[in-house]
Amino acid sequence: MTLERAVAAFANRYDDSPEWVVRAPGRVNLIGEHTDYNDGFVMPMSIDRAVFIAGRNTGGDLVRIHSVDFGEESSFSLNDVAELAPAGDGWLEYVKGTAWALADSGRSLAGWEGVLLGDVPVGAGLSSSAAVELAVARAFHRGADWSWDAAAMAQLCQRAENSWVGVNCGIMDQMISACGKDGHALLLDCRSLQGQHVPLPDGVDVVVLDTSTRRGLVDSAYNERRAQCEVAACFFSVGALRDVDEETFANRMHALDETPRRRARHVISENARTERAAEAMRQGDARALGLLLNESHMSLRDDFSVSSEALDAMVECAQDQASCHGARMTGAGFGGCAVALVDADHTASFVEDTAQAYSTRTGHDPSLYLCRATEGAEVL
Ligand code: GLA
Repeated sequence: MTLERAVAAFANRYDDSPEWVVRAPGRVNLIGEHTDYNDGFVMPMSIDRAVFIAGRNTGGDLVRIHSVDFGEESSFSLNDVAELAPAGDGWLEYVKGTAWALADSGRSLAGWEGVLLGDVPVGAGLSSSAAVELAVARAFHRGADWSWDAAAMAQLCQRAENSWVGVNCGIMDQMISACGKDGHALLLDCRSLQGQHVPLPDGVDVVVLDTSTRRGLVDSAYNERRAQCEVAACFFSVGALRDVDEETFANRMHALDETPRRRARHVISENARTERAAEAMRQGDARALGLLLNESHMSLRDDFSVSSEALDAMVECAQDQASCHGARMTGAGFGGCAVALVDADHTASFVEDTAQAYSTRTGHDPSLYLCRATEGAEVL
């Protein structure tokens, strides 16, 4: 997806050039899975697949938006946004929900019209919804008198998703879409929202491996995991599992029921792995980083129980390749994508051989693609 395509889509619709184009990226999480809502650590990177809005300010109170990908146009009035009720989970709800969260925070909003388009696959676990939210926030910011504070915007977009769309996600996806940096992943402390950009090791490519499987009921399984983590936090008498270290866990885990014990073991070990992974990246140690990814997958599969047959097959097919430093499922799980770290000299053959092995083994037709780490939400 390019700026040119966004400009062309606007021209096609309005017979004119847009006044502005904004872009917000999807993300792939390298490590730190199901830790954000436990106040822990994550290390996602924003990718070169993004949502674009090309638009112009209209000044009034109307927002009119045409989704190129869905072939639909919709509009809503900013005067009514406080009174509007959410209506399901279609693409427009992410637009309206973001307008609602911005307005509710006291920020003044002015109308605009434009086209929305992108190339973040929907439902694959690459955060297309966070990308839409951040792009919309950027679009409103264009005509406004308030300043762009990336972390505050991420929190408002999370609020749109939690309270408007009704998905109980953590803060990771919105933070990385807002704060990503070219060539870097973001080590984020999800409690303080302090982040450090960590460079990707030289000579390593990040490959996204889409299993082409999607599973329904992810939301209810996700909420169930969150509740189990809360039970475990309660057992340790802490506000969030972030506050339990590996030693405390080892000493007291035997008194905890098996399911919350497994969930807690994943979260506590994953937090430690994520900090170690950032260290390995700072050292440029792709091998150590890859091993941590492999361990993360096992923990998500065996203790957190959010992998799937397809994800396990994809991860194993990737790990079997000599050029692969490590691989794991990424995102909420149950289907969607895995991520692999690959020796950049052999990325093309890695992609071909892994896709072939996976499709022979499962009969699914996967999509594998190289991803570059890009800037977070921006005006182009
Ligand atoms: C989804 C949520 C994130 C995070 C991941 C799991 O992507 O939106 O907040 O919890 O799952 O790490």
